[in-house]
Amino acid sequence: MTAAPVVKTCADLKSQPDEFRIACEKLVISHAVNELYGAQVFDEPAIQLAPTPYAKWLTCRVAMEEYGHHVRFKELGEEMGVPADKMTPKEKRPLSIFEFPLKTWEEFCVIKLLADLAEILQVEDLAHCTFLPLRNLARMTMPEERFHAQFGKDFCGELVKTPEGKARVQAAIDIYFPMLPAFFGRAGSKNNEVYRKWGIKKRSNEEMLADFLVRAREVTEGLGLRLPEVPAAA
Ligand SMILES: [Fe+2]
Ligand SMILES: [Fe+2]
Repeated sequence: MTAAPVVKTCADLKSQPDEFRIACEKLVISHAVNELYGAQVFDEPAIQLAPTPYAKWLTCRVAMEEYGHHVRFKELGEEMGVPADKMTPKEKRPLSIFEFPLKTWEEFCVIKLLADLAEILQVEDLAHCTFLPLRNLARMTMPEERFHAQFGKDFCGELVKTPEGKARVQAAIDIYFPMLPAFFGRAGSKNNEVYRKWGIKKRSNEEMLADFLVRAREVTEGLGLRLPEVPAAA
């Protein structure tokens, strides 16, 4: 296998083979769409659910950062020549993990604890991407995604101090967690094969999911909670 080229700028990407260019566009479109949709259906509505001024303030910060991720990915997409209207949830269907109907503060804390951990894994993978503008953007968003997962861990940590709170957090994990494996895509995915061929991503969907399950279990059990069984990857 020949080593994938390192592409330094959006202008340089335009002269790369279609397969490489289109793969980079797909990833940037996906991030632009999902960051926006997640902010709209989870983070912004969670400001109302937050129980204290302090929690509202931090939730505002999370929502601001998720909208900010959309803005940065969209700007990168535009620099790559992707039309702006292609990077909206109307044009491209958002991921199924956002179909969860958020109703409670506990659910939001669980989403930050576990879905943002899943996002951290994706961003870690892109942090070595051969398309440098995407690598740089992944590295830039990483501290914020870590803050979101820590937010989830800290607030879940507070909630589990009472038996009622613990039961509510566990119930949220039980209904939300089974939606997360789909976030990593199918086993044997053709898209993923192309991403790895060009060094855009390093790991297969199966490897990412296996790593996620270990890390999710560790953080959940560290809070005295448990993960429900999930069906093996499709
Ligand atoms: Fe984000
Ligand atoms: Fe996030």
